Amino acid sequence: FLLTGCDGGVRATESVTLGLDSEEYDVELALRATPDSVSILPGTPSEVWRYKAELLKGPKNTLTENTNSYLGPTIRLRRGQRVKIHIHNELPEDTTVHWHGLHVPSDVDGQPRLPIQPGETMTVGFDVWDRAGLFWYHSHAHGERGGRVGFQSYAGLAGLLIVEDDEEAGLGLPSGDNELLLVLQDRTFAGANELVYLDGGMGAMMDRMHGFLGDRILVNSVPPATRKVATRPYRIRVLNGSNARIYKLAWSDGRPVTVIGADGGLLPEPEDRPYATLAPAQRLDIWLDLSQSQPGSTLELISDSFQAGMMGGMGMMGSNALPLGSRFTLVGLEVAESLEVNEQLPAQLGQQRQRILVGSNTRIRTFELRPVMMRGFAINGRRFEGPHVADDEKVRLGDTEIWEFRNNTPMPHPMHIHGLQFNIVGRRGGNSDSLQQGLVDSGWHDTVLVMPRETVQLAMKFERFAGLFIYHCHNMEHEDAGMMRYFQVQG
Ligand code: C2O
Ligand code: CU
Repeated sequence: FLLTGCDGGVRATESVTLGLDSEEYDVELALRATPDSVSILPGTPSEVWRYKAELLKGPKNTLTENTNSYLGPTIRLRRGQRVKIHIHNELPEDTTVHWHGLHVPSDVDGQPRLPIQPGETMTVGFDVWDRAGLFWYHSHAHGERGGRVGFQSYAGLAGLLIVEDDEEAGLGLPSGDNELLLVLQDRTFAGANELVYLDGGMGAMMDRMHGFLGDRILVNSVPPATRKVATRPYRIRVLNGSNARIYKLAWSDGRPVTVIGADGGLLPEPEDRPYATLAPAQRLDIWLDLSQSQPGSTLELISDSFQAGMMGGMGMMGSNALPLGSRFTLVGLEVAESLEVNEQLPAQLGQQRQRILVGSNTRIRTFELRPVMMRGFAINGRRFEGPHVADDEKVRLGDTEIWEFRNNTPMPHPMHIHGLQFNIVGRRGGNSDSLQQGLVDSGWHDTVLVMPRETVQLAMKFERFAGLFIYHCHNMEHEDAGMMRYFQVQG
């Protein structure tokens, strides 16, 4: 796992400008994908690839650097802003930057068909159309010999992107120090703290089938830690930035998990769950009220154990990987301060975006997920073949459709659709209840966990942008092995 930079003689191509044709931008950023070395574990710093950014124009709070972390800076945008980003590739191989979950035009979506070559700069521009929510950005590179998303994201190329709007601000949810942002990832390290991804041989082949599982859990790029908190409400926003691991979020004292938001922003109203299931690429927004807690006590956010069945525990011959379905602590919250804060969780979480209306005459498009002998998984019998769409992968701008994913495999697949947020219409046939009660389906989503043998229906509307987009499994090893396709929105 060698993470070097580009050595001399690279091309330094200037600005391919894509997206908006405008002189006026509210926010302008320079974002570099670059090799770096950061302290993750005690001892030798680890070599990583990461994003670094500089604010060229816009409000000061647009960027929050994550120092001593491989995570990119947290980018804070407001709905309605016009944004321009200069992306410099300082890596020795092609990369792209995908704005996961954002409703942006095809050409600025960071798709593998538009790679940024080593030494090259690409400038993208877009308007922030989305309502407030937690999004993220990460590499979406795909080379001649397969996908590089798993490798590049694992090396560190990922960061959070928050969209804010007046409607959400009006609710007065906890913010600043009372808003915790947690990025959950798992990693494996060798002797001198170097990151280990897939090594050769049999183990790697199994890892590709099941997805990479690391030896240890990192939260915001470091081992889980305890934070000091006060007797007051907190807003906890969690991204599963892992390549393949699914989390079962729960509180150590057994209190319910109060979910207030998902991928595409706040839910209509808070929902209490015994635990919350979080698949790769998904986000959850959680309300935690510590006002009744005893000073001195500690509450832990854990990932509880679950039955992984066929889906886990197999891909780690000869490694120490934490099996899928293990129990571990993510963060400890030590109540260190007594405060009198009177902040209530609103019963209604603001004005909602109108759900997508579907009826008996809505077109249903079916996608069957099936294993391909020794080569991963296929969607309707097809694997990734670049920007090529089959006849049944063409939709019309302005149409509303139901996309039905039928999982005929023994593994769960977190299916992600680019460029839009969808509603989940329903599920049937799943044979695993060990994560089922924790699925949050009531909001706006861009990634849905389709359980083994389950069929899930999604309502989606193709608005505003025609062009090529992608849909794929967000288990990054599945995606890289070809469980990914383009679809075309025809204007
Ligand atoms: Cu988060 Cu196509 O990706
Ligand atoms: Cu998958």
